[in-house]
Amino acid sequence: MTDKAYYVTTPIYYVNDAPHIGHAYTTTAGDVLTRWHRQRGEDVWYLTGVDEHGTKVQRAAEAGGVSPQEWVDRLVADAWLPVLGTVNAANDDFIRTTSDRHKLAVQRFWEVVRDNGYVYAAPYAGPYCVGCEEFKLVGDLVAGEGDFKGQQLCPVHGRPVEQVEEDNWFFKLSALAERLIAHYETNPDAIQPQSAYNEVMSFLRQGLMDISMSRSSVKWGIPLPWDSDQVVYVWFDALLNYITAVGYGADPGTAEAELFERTWPVDVHLVGKDILRFHAVYWPAMLMAAELPLPRKVFAHGWLLVGGEKMSKTRLTGIAPAQIIDHFGADAFRYYFLRAITFGNDGSFSWEDMSARYTSELANGLGNLASRATAMVEKYCSGAVPAPSVYTEADLRIQQQLVQAVVAADAAYLALDFSAGIAVVNGFVEAVNRYVTEQEPWKVAKDDSQIERLHTILYVLCDSLRAIAVLHHALMPRVTALMWEQIGAVVLGDIADQRVQHAATWGLLPVGAHVTKGEILFPRLEDPVEA
Ligand code: ME8
Ligand code: MG
Repeated sequence: MTDKAYYVTTPIYYVNDAPHIGHAYTTTAGDVLTRWHRQRGEDVWYLTGVDEHGTKVQRAAEAGGVSPQEWVDRLVADAWLPVLGTVNAANDDFIRTTSDRHKLAVQRFWEVVRDNGYVYAAPYAGPYCVGCEEFKLVGDLVAGEGDFKGQQLCPVHGRPVEQVEEDNWFFKLSALAERLIAHYETNPDAIQPQSAYNEVMSFLRQGLMDISMSRSSVKWGIPLPWDSDQVVYVWFDALLNYITAVGYGADPGTAEAELFERTWPVDVHLVGKDILRFHAVYWPAMLMAAELPLPRKVFAHGWLLVGGEKMSKTRLTGIAPAQIIDHFGADAFRYYFLRAITFGNDGSFSWEDMSARYTSELANGLGNLASRATAMVEKYCSGAVPAPSVYTEADLRIQQQLVQAVVAADAAYLALDFSAGIAVVNGFVEAVNRYVTEQEPWKVAKDDSQIERLHTILYVLCDSLRAIAVLHHALMPRVTALMWEQIGAVVLGDIADQRVQHAATWGLLPVGAHVTKGEILFPRLEDPVEA
């Protein structure tokens, strides 16, 4: 038996255009979750990637005057891979749906499902949204206005749907509705947040219709193994990435087969709420039809909004991650989006709000604490962490608050409540900042007879910073690594190897560790040139 890894995924994004901060948001959340679990000492596997087939990508390539393969190759190399570096994502793998490992496994999967009796031929006629790459129900649509008067629009993309009529292969989704309901009734945590769970349950209780799993009018896709005139419907190709990337269908005994054992079933599929139904209804139904275990959890987060609407490539309302990160840095980006928006809710981005939080919570909060502490150790102790002597009640209170903070932060991160987890750590930072203000070490330093008290205060500060660096490392890997060096904690090893569960073990920072004030963690920023 292989030990199970904690397996986290993001959606694979369409490469019809370059990424915007909505995509970076999901990737960042997945990365923070991944790093947190790694720091708990767990084996973790983090997958992201791109969705390269389908009408939307094909049309973007046509408009760009190149073949679909050239189009996706260029965008993946120039935009989708670089953005992982921009946000500082530590993914283990990156899956492309045009890769052979994916295409072959998709064909194998659908052969299995067909052999199991879940696929049949029938004509399809109905509306299709290319933005969603989704067969719509008439009841899903909204009436167009203005330029689109008289047409039926997709409510997500605000664009007219297209009427599709073709001979397709169908997937017997209807046969699986009862099993899905039973599954979610016994596993109420399998869809989060609660609003997403409720939405899926009410959809399931209306009953399910069979759904087309192939397209005959689309050329850019994976041919059906038993009918090469048709390609696999893009969603029924894309969803499979979660298993094809970890070795589904590999020969027994191979490294790929072992990875599948280690990772499947997935622990968390992170998705935006726009694609909840695909992940919480169609995907587990596909897995049931192939007799594979179901995902442990789908978490549907909210949307980043622009003018009250979902930021989108199709609507051309995207903000490039680099626009924000070039100014604030990747750590502040990661911090802001996970702190300011409760995971699961919608939120908007504004420069003003981000600047305000950067200044108050990062520069004046954490940054100021670190610079005060390191400056005093340099000044009063020649840069060596001093030895504590007798702890007062105030010192012990900090230690107790730290114990509580670690327990609460861990619980929040495990529940994917990033904002609450960050708030807990911030609360501890504030407590330590208050402690410095109250203890007034700069006054204590004036009295030679109080040298032991001074050293004790400074030790409390330094060991608190050690714990804060560990607790904020998953969120802000670069700045915390810098803190780690500044307080001389490198003697404890790499910060990424520090266990969050041990962060509250008091006294880990060795006396005598070498402290240097060094680079300012969160420098004051000029206002951006263009608003
Ligand atoms: O749906 N706010 O790809 P996609 C928050 N290829 N998150 C957002 C966002 C926003 N405004 N816009 C995008 C697809 N996202 C399919 C997925 S998975 C098997 C196939 C994020 O390029 C969010 O995670 O439209 C959303 O679900 C995803 O990008 C959609 O990306
Ligand atoms: Mg989309």
